[in-house]
Amino acid sequence: MWTPPNRTKHPLPDTRWPTAEQAAQSRLFSPVRIGSVEAEQRTWVPAMVPWRATDDGFVTDDVVDWYRRFAEGQPGVLVVEATGIRDIPSGPLLRIGHDRFVPGLRRLADAVREASGGHTRLFIQVIDFLTIRRRPPIHKFLGRYLAITDAHRAAVGLGNATDEDVRNALAALPVDRLREALSPREAESLDYGYRERVWDTHLPHIRELPQVLPDLFADAAERAYAAGFDGVELHYAHAYTMASFLSRLNARDDGYGSTREGRVRLPVEVVERARDRVGSEPVLGARFLGDEVIEGGSDLDDATWFGVQLARAGLDYLSVSKGGKFEDAAQPKVGWSVYPYTGQSGYECMPTVYSDERGPFHRNVPLAEAVRRTLRDAGSDIPVVTSGGIGTFEEAEAVLAEDRADIVGAARATLADPDWFLKTRLGHGDQVRRCQFTNYCEALDQKHKKVTCQLWDRLELDAPDVPLDPTGRRRLVAPPWRR
Ligand SMILES: Cc1cc2nc3c(=O)[nH]c(=O)nc-3n(C[C@H](O)[C@H](O)[C@H](O)COP(=O)(O)O)c2cc1C
Repeated sequence: MWTPPNRTKHPLPDTRWPTAEQAAQSRLFSPVRIGSVEAEQRTWVPAMVPWRATDDGFVTDDVVDWYRRFAEGQPGVLVVEATGIRDIPSGPLLRIGHDRFVPGLRRLADAVREASGGHTRLFIQVIDFLTIRRRPPIHKFLGRYLAITDAHRAAVGLGNATDEDVRNALAALPVDRLREALSPREAESLDYGYRERVWDTHLPHIRELPQVLPDLFADAAERAYAAGFDGVELHYAHAYTMASFLSRLNARDDGYGSTREGRVRLPVEVVERARDRVGSEPVLGARFLGDEVIEGGSDLDDATWFGVQLARAGLDYLSVSKGGKFEDAAQPKVGWSVYPYTGQSGYECMPTVYSDERGPFHRNVPLAEAVRRTLRDAGSDIPVVTSGGIGTFEEAEAVLAEDRADIVGAARATLADPDWFLKTRLGHGDQVRRCQFTNYCEALDQKHKKVTCQLWDRLELDAPDVPLDPTGRRRLVAPPWRR
């Protein structure tokens, strides 16, 4: 993963945990209204993909165990991982693109309600993504994937040759000559694997995204509420389809790109369609980027403007994230896919303790703060969620007390200790197992391995009923809190 130049290792901040009385009077443990529901606390577990679904996208026992464990810590809101809105194969990622997924999701929702004693509101993040392929071996790329054009024929000086002859001639070129013979997109497909863009409007299925996506998202929202979720989070962040529509790189010329108005048009239409379908009651929010952190990408100025447009379209909350893009990702090894958290934008999304002078802690709060301020100036009072490097009560409480956000998200800190909200609220903060922010979890995610935490995945492996990974060397849920 990319780390800042001149990085230093930052120690975890010293902190004081509140007594139960102090916690009871805190902002963090005070209720917050999110559309039609009230969350009991301003604590929030952002979406995290744990790679526990079946290859067909169904909920498994491991998925249920994973969310039940988070629910035991009774966060105000728990957001289920990015869940695909299409009915297409997408590996062990949850899916919600057909009614057959509803019973499994209902089982998950029931388990969370039971394990949290009804204290946690359960939302689900719904996502669309475009095709991305693994980085191919060069012989496969030249032999099969590259579509031969007249430009290639000209480059190898074989005007009327067959495709096969051109492929052979390209394969015989020295690497730098080969690169000259390829277009920039072809060279990228060779070096990183083929990846679609929302502005590839020469491809019919990409051109039609604005016609197709509103109903797909609205259908997904309808299924989520049918399965018993309290809210739906539209995934407009990171490297995926909807964030790409919002991106300044989006050069579509069909009214869905190029200008700010064009770039926000489809995200707004998706909100409107989902609202029309489910009515005003169910909670509908979105996660989007305060800054893409890529060359030529959208910045905070775009984000504050988008925030107001999305709120006006009918959202109940906005969750502000940062970065996590493909554009600056590291080159994958042959046979691997490019991973959007390996470049600088990925670092900014999940900052580690190996950081620049600002350090990783509560690093992204200024983005949420600016989005929130602009919303308030525009007359919108929807809550804004911040996340990124927050792992103590003091940090969270300061963010809220200074009105920089309304809700505090903590993904990795809650993975490290799913009970940290509960321990803190009950005055046992000294027992919190604190995230080290080294991204062990994220490295597992990158390899599409079942996500765990280095602080607990080797503990008490032979205790009864502990779910283990296939190697038997890692447990899949955090050990229970023995009070
Ligand atoms: C293993 C893992 C999986 C993640 N999956 C998602 C996801 O599905 N959707 C999403 O919006 N963010 C995802 N994230 C990003 C987190 O929600 C969060 O924004 C990020 O970790 C920074 O917050 P933190 O410092 O509190 O961990 C993931 C993070 C991790 C570590």
